[in-house]
Amino acid sequence: MIKPTHHIFVCGSFRPTGAQGVCHKKESSALLQYFEQEAADRGLDGVMVSSTGCMKLCDHGPVVVIYPQGTWYGKVDEDAADAILDAIENDTVAEEFLIPS
Ligand code: FES
Repeated sequence: MIKPTHHIFVCGSFRPTGAQGVCHKKESSALLQYFEQEAADRGLDGVMVSSTGCMKLCDHGPVVVIYPQGTWYGKVDEDAADAILDAIENDTVAEEFLIPS
């Protein structure tokens, strides 16, 4: 594995109590697998995908964060994942899926 150029964090809703929240209930684990498969299909060797604990923006779930850009996306589905990967490839931002600040 090479050092990633982009790290996609998909909220897995993990909490210290063991409870799982909104993003998990909205199929974020399947979303993580979709990101991994699609990144591989696109040959994005520098993209790593990881699951996280609750990122405390549950109302926007499923939540996805891209580093090093620090871009936060909400209500991410497969269409949004495609747009996010397009943005990574083109060094842009998938504006329509950004969580409002
Ligand atoms: S469960 Fe995903 S942000 Fe809280």
